[in-house]
Amino acid sequence: MLNSSNIAFIGPGVMAEAIIAGLLRKKLALPEAITCSGPNNERVEYLSNKYLIHMSTDNTKAIQQADVVVLSVKPQRLDRVLTGISGKIKPGALILSIVAGASIKKISSCLNHHSIVRSMPNTPAQIGQGITVWTAAPEVTPHQIEMARQILGALGEEIFVEEESYLDMATAVSGTGPAYVFLFMEAMVDAGVHLGFPRRIAESLVAQTVRGSVDYYLKRDDPVHLARLRNEVTSPGGTSAEALYYLEKAGFRTAISRAIWAAYERSQALGAGGKSVPPEEKK
Ligand SMILES: NC(=O)c1ccc[n+]([C@@H]2O[C@H](COP(=O)([O-])OP(=O)(O)OC[C@H]3O[C@@H](n4cnc5c(N)ncnc54)[C@H](OP(=O)(O)O)[C@@H]3O)[C@@H](O)[C@H]2O)c1
Repeated sequence: MLNSSNIAFIGPGVMAEAIIAGLLRKKLALPEAITCSGPNNERVEYLSNKYLIHMSTDNTKAIQQADVVVLSVKPQRLDRVLTGISGKIKPGALILSIVAGASIKKISSCLNHHSIVRSMPNTPAQIGQGITVWTAAPEVTPHQIEMARQILGALGEEIFVEEESYLDMATAVSGTGPAYVFLFMEAMVDAGVHLGFPRRIAESLVAQTVRGSVDYYLKRDDPVHLARLRNEVTSPGGTSAEALYYLEKAGFRTAISRAIWAAYERSQALGAGGKSVPPEEKK
């Protein structure tokens, strides 16, 4: 379906490259149908040579023939980009934004264009293992919905939601999620080193424990509550029971819950263009 559509990426960064690589790997688009545009000639040239796609350092030229315009700049660059391309988009084109915190209302009012998809991917998208939550404005056609599904599917799993409010929630849970996982892993590695393991061994133990646990959870035939899996490794009076007691006593569960809530509030505040109140200033 995408083979007949021209796709322009405004913002040729790591996420744009992840989508381009995924589209080509899955043969969903032809290289000659893809254009990337950004201010840095070296970067667009690099992508153009690597993936044999078109390049531009002029956003308005890049979108002239585009059926899909992917907005993949950092949030602080978005206003300038929207002002620059406003009025120059093909009338039937789809705008697909991966910009954190940028609402459909903001994008459509800046562009005076209403076919907008807003999405929130995450970092593992760079190896095709991401999860993206996305939603669409009412004006987006069923054909455009399918195009968006295929483009975002190039990053890994995708979940369509009806309500845009889920995007800030997804930002806090899955968009920011890799940061929590890496912090947790880092703490486990450091604890292993504290016990006396060489760092390299501690890293392997932690990485494979996390990967194996996730696979064990996801690849079961019967869906199971996480608490049941935790109980499976918690014998009465054993090592897990002792360790879990200390985690609960330290407020581990509450700390995670508070952190995700704080990320959610921060995402909402950034989307509203304001600043959120730092936790230490909250009563
Ligand atoms: N990385 C993630 O895991 C992740 C997850 C979820 C959502 N996102 C969202 O994805 C978006 C892109 O993130 P990223 O990590 O790919 O960022 P990135 O690597 O910094 O890419 C942004 C690109 O935009 C270019 N750019 C700057 N100004 C521009 C302009 N006026 N016109 C066109 N291009 C311009 C930058 O060029 P220069 O470097 O030369 O300035 C850079 O190549 C962000 O909005 C972010 O919120 C990222």
